[in-house]
Amino acid sequence: MNADAPLVIGISGASGAPIAVAALRALHAAKVSVLLVVSRGGEAVLKEEAGLGVSDLAPYVTATYDPSDIAAPIASGSRPTRGMAIVPCSSNTVAQVALGLGDNLLTRAAHVHLKERRTLVLVPRETPLSTLDLRHLATLSELGVVVLDAAPPYYLGIERLSEAAEYLAGKLLDQFGVPHRLYRGWKEGT
Ligand SMILES: Cc1cc2nc3c(=O)[nH]c(=O)nc-3n(C[C@H](O)[C@H](O)[C@H](O)COP(=O)(O)O)c2cc1C
Repeated sequence: MNADAPLVIGISGASGAPIAVAALRALHAAKVSVLLVVSRGGEAVLKEEAGLGVSDLAPYVTATYDPSDIAAPIASGSRPTRGMAIVPCSSNTVAQVALGLGDNLLTRAAHVHLKERRTLVLVPRETPLSTLDLRHLATLSELGVVVLDAAPPYYLGIERLSEAAEYLAGKLLDQFGVPHRLYRGWKEGT
């Protein structure tokens, strides 16, 4: 992992936009440079669940790319990155990434991370999961992708959805070795 390079964050159209917002805020606080791409579905869900537009995320990121901009730097393996996370990750995007499809910048950037064998973390959210979802996620896991399902635990005293979002954002940052105070671990401090 190239810890000096920017991290690519993709937001797709699954439920869970607040997880992405919490992650972006924490990455900004940790001074991690983020390159952001939000799919059209992600844009719709971001508005629905967080009341935010893509431009509202600009203060937390170094650059934002349009999903149609397949000539953006992150469409090429020649652009160094720290890795990529897709949070939340829709079943549609899971399927595209698993099949190697890259007809928008988000899925193309994910494909680049696969081919360059860089860290790729997906936060899928769907319930129940279809057999196809499970097959695609198993394929991706076998390729080394981290499947960080959007499921908070019930033993940490989490009471609000915002706390669940922060917990999951914290688990995401853990994957990239980024320090944060988004959740307290099991029996932390004991
Ligand atoms: C409010 C809302 C919530 C949605 N939640 C989910 C979800 O949890 N999981 C999922 O796979 N798709 C969900 N969808 C459907 C996706 O947004 C849709 O399949 C979209 O085409 C995904 O496109 P993308 O993968 O390019 O973002 C949701 C859509 C809306 C409008």
